[in-house]
Amino acid sequence: MRVLMIAPPGAGKGTQGALIAAHLGVPHIATGDLLRDHVARQTGLGRAVRQHLERGELVPDEIVLEMVREAAVAAKAAGGGYVLDGVPRNMTQARALYLMGRELGMTAQVALHLVADDHELMRRLLARAALEGRSDDTEVVIRRRLSLYREVTHPIVAWYAERGILLSVDAMRPVEQVAREILTALEPMRDAAQMQGAIDFTSLGASFGHTTSAASPSG
Ligand code: AP5
Ligand code: MG
Repeated sequence: MRVLMIAPPGAGKGTQGALIAAHLGVPHIATGDLLRDHVARQTGLGRAVRQHLERGELVPDEIVLEMVREAAVAAKAAGGGYVLDGVPRNMTQARALYLMGRELGMTAQVALHLVADDHELMRRLLARAALEGRSDDTEVVIRRRLSLYREVTHPIVAWYAERGILLSVDAMRPVEQVAREILTALEPMRDAAQMQGAIDFTSLGASFGHTTSAASPSG
């Protein structure tokens, strides 16, 4: 099954993405983790993106898309499923990802939108900062990441709704409850995906969108 996640910083992309990927037996492709790994290894790519990450700014689209293409090709060889975490982040990436998916025969079947308010997101990320010390988990940079999400990432949610693959989930509840709701909602879609094989699910429209809770403007 092929799932992508759109959610603000701290909503639980990493937490839920790992659970979903393990449940489905597919790779969890997290662009932030891949980029931080490059920074830690001081690769050329890592040197090019370090300041973007530290400031909470988006890394240039070409860099991210090339990295995602490599991961998608590997996912295809491993069976074709994936959980994408952290991409797309703007409309350019959303369109490029869709074209890449068409080319590889692996467009997303579900766009999972995790909805949470800024107060809770800030609380979670500051709590994580105390434990993990991620360079972008400072109050100023978190504010920048949240506002970038609202300005350039959140608008693409509507595009997935139009494609009929949007699943919005209330992510304000405890991890286990959020996970249960997601996995329960994915189960019938997973069966449909297996039965339909390579059919492009964008054609199925709203019936495939199975929205379990309304998307809030703050999500
Ligand atoms: P990225 O790594 O994707 O960071 P982010 O979007 O800011 O999100 P986070 O990883 O901080 O949060 P999350 O949603 O994964 O939540 P988590 O599960 O960890 O991107 C980092 C940077 O990389 C970007 O700023 C940009 O520079 C660059 N980048 C990445 N992708 C890019 C792209 N496509 N284009 C351009 N640039 C890109 O949870 C957060 C905390 O809350 C954890 O401590 C967790 O334990 C806790 N928690 C989770 N769920 C719950 C819950 N339900 N209740 C209570 N606590 C919870
Ligand atoms: Mg994350």
